[in-house]
Amino acid sequence: MTGADLGLEPNAYSRPLSISVTKDSFEVGGYQEFALFRRKHLHLEPRGRLMKTDELLTPFFDRGLIGKDFIDMGCNAGYWSLRAGLAGADWIIAVDIDPHRSIALDLAVRWLGVEDWGLMERFYTWTSRVTDYFDDHEVVCALGLIHWLYHLTGHMSLEEIVAWLADLTTETLIVEWISANDPDVVEHGHLGSSHEDWTEDNFVDSLGARFVQVTRLGYSEASRVLYLCEGKR
Ligand SMILES: C[S@@+](CC[C@H](N)C(=O)[O-])C[C@H]1O[C@@H](n2cnc3c(N)ncnc32)[C@H](O)[C@@H]1O
Repeated sequence: MTGADLGLEPNAYSRPLSISVTKDSFEVGGYQEFALFRRKHLHLEPRGRLMKTDELLTPFFDRGLIGKDFIDMGCNAGYWSLRAGLAGADWIIAVDIDPHRSIALDLAVRWLGVEDWGLMERFYTWTSRVTDYFDDHEVVCALGLIHWLYHLTGHMSLEEIVAWLADLTTETLIVEWISANDPDVVEHGHLGSSHEDWTEDNFVDSLGARFVQVTRLGYSEASRVLYLCEGKR
């Protein structure tokens, strides 16, 4: 596909979404690849590019999210929403501009609901631009998103993007730094030509001004770094 308007079709150049469902497994392919299994107990397995990020976030999810409300901004097929649901989050909102992604997640939640894991009534998927969303949440997940916010809003600086994400967060922000030389950013011109403020140091300074504890969890990919930000100032 050439010349797609990424504002209308943000996943035009991603690997196509695919779903394969049996009684015992629900497998998803595309930008996010993962599988749900009903073995002795329910098992959610990351694949491909999700694996490293999942490894870095496992200690956070292992702490449990019981009683928390969680929003997954730019959820894609909803891996992080499912992860939060299985970690016990009370209320999960998954937002993506692409309706196909929300449908994939709806189907996964229905598949889980067959066994009455109590997840269905805690899950909400919403097809929308994340910037149309104004309610705050205890846990905000913004992975693979900041370059999209810069690109699609056309006016938010890095400082404004961090401020906007922090305003939506009452406790914890999980966010991914994406550098200007990231292959997706370069290929799709997400940052345009002038983006001098787009440095990891500026990103960390902006996070540090808004959160008491900013933990650099590590590289999710060569040009992407995961941060866990806790305690709103
Ligand atoms: C790079 S993927 C990241 C997916 C997921 N958060 C992850 O890290 O695995 C970006 C996702 O954000 C969605 N997206 C991009 N801009 C958006 C916007 N302004 N509002 C809502 N969703 C958006 C895209 O449709 C895509 O599914």
